[in-house]
Amino acid sequence: MTLSTPHGGKLINLWEPEYKVEHIELSIDLDKTALSDLELIGNGAYSPITGFFNKKDYESVVNNLRLADGHVWSIPITLPVDEDKASTLSIGAEAKLVFEGEVYGVITINDIYTPDKEVEAKAVYQTDELAHPGVRKLFERKNVYVGGPIKVVKRLERERFNEYYLDPTETRSIFAENGWKTVVGFQTRNPVHRAHEYIQKSALEIVDGLFLNPLVGETKSDDIPADVRMKSYQVLLKNYYPEDRVYLAVFPAAMRYAGPREAIFHAMVRKNYGCTHFIVGRDHAGVGNYYGTYDAQKIFDQFTQEELGLTLLFFEHSFYCKKCGNMASTKTCPHSKEDHVILSGTKVREMLHNGEVPPSEFSRKEVVEVLIEGLKSHSVKA
Ligand code: ADX
Repeated sequence: MTLSTPHGGKLINLWEPEYKVEHIELSIDLDKTALSDLELIGNGAYSPITGFFNKKDYESVVNNLRLADGHVWSIPITLPVDEDKASTLSIGAEAKLVFEGEVYGVITINDIYTPDKEVEAKAVYQTDELAHPGVRKLFERKNVYVGGPIKVVKRLERERFNEYYLDPTETRSIFAENGWKTVVGFQTRNPVHRAHEYIQKSALEIVDGLFLNPLVGETKSDDIPADVRMKSYQVLLKNYYPEDRVYLAVFPAAMRYAGPREAIFHAMVRKNYGCTHFIVGRDHAGVGNYYGTYDAQKIFDQFTQEELGLTLLFFEHSFYCKKCGNMASTKTCPHSKEDHVILSGTKVREMLHNGEVPPSEFSRKEVVEVLIEGLKSHSVKA
């Protein structure tokens, strides 16, 4: 086996720094989600996608979990503008893609359409309740979508953790240099706690390398900030992981909280980064009680292995069991809930904010120290 073939057969590269933008009159302001999507379309993380969705791809993804050409895809990648802006745009024209006054890309407009956001919400998020953070964001974004192929003319520069922002071509070379033929991808928007560590290491027992790929784009405000999480990943890896078997790089996409649909999206993108395997545990990319515990695993049943092009590794709810005296899951532990150390995300955040230390069966002490310190300085800033 070799590293996975990118989704659609080849990695897309739309980086054109020399492309002249001065003569382009039209411009579109990007929100943060569109800015991160532009970067990820351009660097091939979203292969085979080459631009923001036109109506055909949009409807196909919303209704059939596939692009119009048949490739598996689950989350619409859209460029929203308001009605006034839409009335200035025309099919066939180029528009600069601008964020905070800087031009990051160019789109050649091939579609302008008004989506039915209720249909999108119910299909993608399985709810149209505004209490769902992904749905709220969907409705907060502008109401008209602009579709068409893009070019990237300027890369985002990051002040911090810049070395962890890698393109799929770069992660693929690193995996190859490490001699890894099989690599398991791990998505997270949280600090890595013992349950995450357990499923990662269980996977690592059967593959060559672990690609720890935390999402660091926009998340909801009560999630732990990405810079604090980055420090927690560094101390965890330093103290508990074999250096030559794990690689840490970030996934700069916005979190959608779309549960099962987002699991498909997360898997396809990690395939593009070079992963041959991808972990889906309990309630992957879920929020509140919107999705069943294993819905994000079951959704893969409707695709063939060939269509997916990577192997899914499903894990059941994992925890520390006091009777077993080790980490286990509902699949491997015969004991009752009272013997299991299980803390909800909300409870842990509360504890950390109050400077309380969650038990070592839940989280490594080095990780907890970083989180408590990091959250303190965030609340000072806020
Ligand atoms: S996510 O929104 O990025 O999915 P999180 O960072 O909590 O959230 O989870 C990362 C991955 O670990 C997901 O695949 C999730 O299903 C899995 N996971 C998280 N906690 C557990 C657990 N206790 N048992 C099994 N899998 C888990």
